[in-house]
Formats: sequence, C-alpha cells, structure tokens
Amino acid sequence: MSLRTCSQRLGAALRTPRPHISRAGRRCYASTATATSNLPADVRQAIENEARLPNADPPADSSTTRLVQSQSPYMVPTYVRPPPMFEQGQGCYLWDVENRQYLDFTAGIAVNALGHCDPEMSKILYQQSQTLVHSSNLYHNPWTGALSQLLIEKTREAGGFNAGKVFVCNSGSEANEAAIKFARKCGRTAQPDGSKHELVSFHNSFHGRTMGSLSATPNPKYQKPFAPMLPGFRYGTYNDIDSINDLVTEKTCGVIIEPIQGEGGVNVADPDFLLALRKRCTEVGAVLIYDEIQCGLGRTGKLWAHCDLPSEAHPDIVCTAKALGNGFPIGATLVTDEVSSKIVTGDHGTTFGGNPLGCRVAHYIVGRLSDPELQRGVLEKEARFREHMSKIQKRFPSVVKEVRGRGLILGMQLNADPTPIVTAARERGLLIITCGTNTLRFVPPLIISDSEIDQGMRILEDAMVAVFEKPGHIEGTDGQQEMR
Ligand SMILES: Cc1ncc(COP(=O)(O)O)c(C=O)c1O
Repeated sequence: MSLRTCSQRLGAALRTPRPHISRAGRRCYASTATATSNLPADVRQAIENEARLPNADPPADSSTTRLVQSQSPYMVPTYVRPPPMFEQGQGCYLWDVENRQYLDFTAGIAVNALGHCDPEMSKILYQQSQTLVHSSNLYHNPWTGALSQLLIEKTREAGGFNAGKVFVCNSGSEANEAAIKFARKCGRTAQPDGSKHELVSFHNSFHGRTMGSLSATPNPKYQKPFAPMLPGFRYGTYNDIDSINDLVTEKTCGVIIEPIQGEGGVNVADPDFLLALRKRCTEVGAVLIYDEIQCGLGRTGKLWAHCDLPSEAHPDIVCTAKALGNGFPIGATLVTDEVSSKIVTGDHGTTFGGNPLGCRVAHYIVGRLSDPELQRGVLEKEARFREHMSKIQKRFPSVVKEVRGRGLILGMQLNADPTPIVTAARERGLLIITCGTNTLRFVPPLIISDSEIDQGMRILEDAMVAVFEKPGHIEGTDGQQEMR
C-alpha cells in the first residue's frame, strides 16, 4: 500500500463523525494527534498534512466515492476523472458535493469565459426556454440569423478575416467537420474529377473526435483504435516554413491549423509561418481554416487570435465553439462569401444546430466577449499571471522551463510530470489542467479578478512546494487533459 493510500485510509478513519463543512469550503477535523501517536513519524506527518488540506480528495469510503461508484457502471468509460464531484458553480469557483470550494483555472477547458452561471446568461436561458427551445432547421427562427450577423459584424469590427456567412452547429468537432466538408466542396468545385481533395493539418494539433476532425488530429493514441482514418489527410510540422511547399500542393483543398495549439501544449504559431501558409494556400487554391475553438473569442485579448495578424495571413474559414455558449453546447463555422458560394442547399445540415435557445445565449455571450474593455482586461490579467509565473520560475529554476501563450491561454512548460502538482493544487482548492508534454495549462474565466489570480497562484506555489520540496506523498491522478 502506498504511503498516500495508507494516509488516506487512516485519514478517513479519523474523519468520523462527518466533518462540519462551511460554505467557505473548509473541513474542520478533530485533532489527529491521539489516534496517530503510535505510528512512524513519516506516516504521521503524511496523515497530518492531508488532514490539514482544505480539499483533500474524497477517500474510498466517502459519500462522494460511493456516489461515483454507484453511477459509473452505467457510463461508457471514456474519461478518467479525479475523485471530487462538482455540483455548483459561480463566477470563478466550483463547489463539490461535499460543499467544498475550488478556484477554477480550467473554465471547463476554456469554455466558461464569463465564469460559471453568469446571472444574465441564466436569465436568458430561462426566458428563452419559456419562449421557444427548438423548432428545427425546417423553419426560420429569429436567433440563428441574429447570432450569425453579430459574429460577422464583430469579426469585421475587430479587424478579423473577411467573414461573410456562418453555419451554426453544436460543438467544436462539428464546426471543424463542417469546415472540412466545405473545403472538400471547394476542391470538388475547382476540380470536378475529385483530384483536389487533400487536407493538411499539423502535428500536436487537436481538432476533435469525430472521424473528420480526428483524421485531422495526428495523435496515434486517438487515431489507431479507429483506423483507417479518412483518406487524403497529410500532416506537417507546426512552424516549419520550409516544409510548406511540399506539404500543400495542387491536390490540397484545405489546410486546418490552430493559431495557438491548446491541447498540444499552448504552442503559438509564428506569424511568418501563417503568412507563408496563407500565401501557399492562395497559390494552389486551397482553403485556409483557423481552428479558434480554444484560443478564440477574447481569450488572447482580441476577439480572434488571428486579429493580431496582418490581413495577408487571414484565413477563409474560422471555427469556434467552447466559449461561444459559455457552457451551453454550440459551435459555429464562419466562412467568406467566396467559400459560401460553393455550398448549396442539402450539402450540410444538423437537427439541433442553430436552435433558438443556443443561438440566443450565444448572441449574448458574443456581445460580452467582443467588449474591448473585457479584452484589455485579458491582457492586464496575462501580465499579472506572468509576474507570478516568473516568481515561481525563479523559485523552481530546474522545474519550470518556460512560459508560452498569449492573453489567458498560457502554458508553463515543466521538466517534470505536472500531474502531482495538479493533484496537490486541487487538494488545496485550485483546479488546473495540463496539456502537451509536461505543460501546465492556464485557461481561466476571462472575468477572473486580480485577487483570484493572486489566490490561485499562491495555491499553485504551495502545491509545487509540496511536490518538489516535500516529496514522497503526492501521486498524480490522471485525466487532466483531453489529449493524452
Ligand atoms: C482547438 C480545438 N478544436 C476542436 C476541439 C473539439 O471540440 P469539441 O470537444 O467541442 O468537439 C477542441 C477541444 O478541446 C479544441 O481545443
């Protein structure tokens, strides 16, 4: 039995009767001294450390674990999750079923840009749910068009690409799926013999789990169990300008790329690389698709990450989802009028996509996220995060290699496995995720306050002290990122 398990069991034994739990999220335990006095000092220390943790993971005999175990037989085991179960959220905080509070630096994987349960969003959901939830794409409704118009207008205002039309769907994968199909259709229109059908994507990208978006995600772990992938996909090296000419050819109908790779490690595309890619796409008549599902909608301090690029590097299609509904499932594919002109009735469709409930919510969210003041705040918050990060880097120079990213999509590259830090942080009340190889990922709500940043970074530093300066009792739990 590991020291950790041993201390959990003994710790659990000490936790009866059930601790009083305050709204502030502190468990109040009776003294552990008497019950542990005959144990070896290191075990006693481990137990005492754990008992002092505000949010120690629920042990095997907790009500949380019993609830998880009673439900798990009914769910397809697609996810590995850490022990707590969350049932409530407000702003930048979540509460678990034991009523313990956690500061959330994950924002539901870059989704809850306006935080959890934004009051105006809740009101809109309530009102629209009493008006019209769904009527299908057989008929018009006021909100699909209103959302599309707002996305186009705000994209133009923000200095984004020359967007002309929008296709609304339900998720990021579906937004990419539509983009891939639109690129194939453009290729078919240019070359009716079907020879212009190849799609190019890049190593360490993540575009989703449906067969089209998975075919564009060259991660063997994801692709292998479901092989063969769709034919015609080629993979290049991110930021390798020299490889572009061989990679993108007359046979290419589309190129899909994240301007900032999220799951792959918060890798930022070099503007020169994107300029060269755009130039090559134009030369061969291929559609350039920016997957801004994770990095878009204000996260970089601009409406879209590509708004920072010269127009010569702008795409033909932008895919969005995640923050678009602030947690309500919705995605969208924005295209130029040129791309749209190749798409005809019946080429693509969805039952739920564009429903009035989702579109009205997203209409509100896009309005909020395109506010220049909110976007300026993102850059100020980035500076505050970076200040803390450089302090942490100074304290742990052999652990922290570099900090990457832009705005509030930041990655701290470590020389060590970050999963024990994730566990230690969670048990101290901070939720954080990983990505790439040994990268800690910071994608908090964009509304996070200075004091919440300070609080979270203090917890992170404490967690790193626990892992690297008092090693031996923290094991990482898996399931901290989508791409592993
Ligand atoms: C850049 C990017 N594209 C696509 C997706 C897939 O989105 P979804 O999980 O909503 O299908 C993700 C999800 O993490 C993503 O980060």
